[in-house]
Amino acid sequence: MEVPRIVVEPPGPKAREIIREDEKYLATSTKCSPIVAKKAHGAIVWDVDDNVYIDFTSGIGVINTGHTHPRIVNAIKEQVEKLMHFAGTDFYYEIQVRLAKRLTEITPGNFEKKVFYTNSGAESNEAAIKLARWSTMRKRFLAFVGAFHGRTMGALSLTASKVVHRDRFFPMMPGVYHVPYAYCYRCPYKLKYPECDIWCAKIIDEVYFESLIPPDEVAAIFIEPVQGEGGYIVPPAEFVKEVKKIAEKHGILFIDDEVQAGYGRTGKMFAIEHFDVIPDIISLAKAMGSGIPIGAIVFRADLDFGVQGAHSNTYGGNLLACASALATIETIYEEGLIENARKVGDVMKKRLLEMQEKFEPIGDVRGLGLMLATEFVKDRKTKEHAVDLRNEIIKRAYKMGLILLPCGKSAIRYIPPLIINEDLANKGLDVLEEAIKQSIKIKH
Ligand SMILES: Cc1ncc(COP(=O)(O)O)c(C=O)c1O
Repeated sequence: MEVPRIVVEPPGPKAREIIREDEKYLATSTKCSPIVAKKAHGAIVWDVDDNVYIDFTSGIGVINTGHTHPRIVNAIKEQVEKLMHFAGTDFYYEIQVRLAKRLTEITPGNFEKKVFYTNSGAESNEAAIKLARWSTMRKRFLAFVGAFHGRTMGALSLTASKVVHRDRFFPMMPGVYHVPYAYCYRCPYKLKYPECDIWCAKIIDEVYFESLIPPDEVAAIFIEPVQGEGGYIVPPAEFVKEVKKIAEKHGILFIDDEVQAGYGRTGKMFAIEHFDVIPDIISLAKAMGSGIPIGAIVFRADLDFGVQGAHSNTYGGNLLACASALATIETIYEEGLIENARKVGDVMKKRLLEMQEKFEPIGDVRGLGLMLATEFVKDRKTKEHAVDLRNEIIKRAYKMGLILLPCGKSAIRYIPPLIINEDLANKGLDVLEEAIKQSIKIKH
């Protein structure tokens, strides 16, 4: 089969009709590429006009096992015929216990753990907020500039990647403080790693906890081990370790948001494993269910609410979602998807670095495994963001059959399903290279 294959310039007539209706009936949200998907297998997507695309987005970090993986489809089918819902809030499901046990085994930390099920990343972080407050009886939180933890009011108060997320929604949850993240390409302190001595972490203890925030009132620090929406930013390992050290010094919980970076994406099951740090609470969603909504927090058992009714929900740990989540874990391990993320990730990163040699506007190439990004700049010295160029590249790429998404202010993320092989990854990168070439010719 020819991939990619564009038979009508997207958006084609059927896609345009659906987009028109979507704009009429659905609330405005975040849609940015006019692709109307009809079906997908592996890393290939068909649209309603029969165009065939390579998917470098995985449904925004959800379809790590590849679209409609037969093993996962079968697990869902088997469950759907037996029982779909009976209320995991008030009754018991065997499958919930099996999945929880598996989650406590695969997450870092050699101690007893427990699980609370949710339906999304935001809801996982809401649960983490509540568990942290409940167990520490402290009220305040620390998070990072550039962070994305979700859009519900509690999670939103932790999110700080784009002003549009917060505009008109003030006030949010009080008591949340943001400090700059280790974004070394654009160091907020204009320092250079490693001579900086990880000032961006040390400032938390040496300045913020001395002058603004009483550390013994801080319940938890929320951190993405690799920032996602903020721009696919990989911090130095010392940064993450130093943040954990500061948290431990003050009895503050370390909450690891793996919603986007988890489930094999970075070449380890959880991104935090790159940094040799053990979190107290891990927040999960997205790839956990391979497309069926499910999230969870996995946490130190001693933090548990321990009181019936303190926290709960109707759909958390839904049976179909649990079946999909169990099959997802087994697929990732048994089919070597973590190793594949490392292997194909290396190939892709090498090619992106070669493109950086050729194309002046690629200011930075970064990422781990198959969580990669390039940041586009107008000038490598001033690093002025090349937002229009980035947007043009994405547009040209999908017109040639490669689906991409932006992140940060002027970056593109490359997150194909972890089942992708080198051949298809290279085909996608050929399209990307052509899209960059064409877009650079236009004056931005
Ligand atoms: C790191 C991180 N946390 C939380 C969320 C929120 O997840 P959801 O959209 O499922 O609420 C996202 C979503 O992109 C995310 O990337």
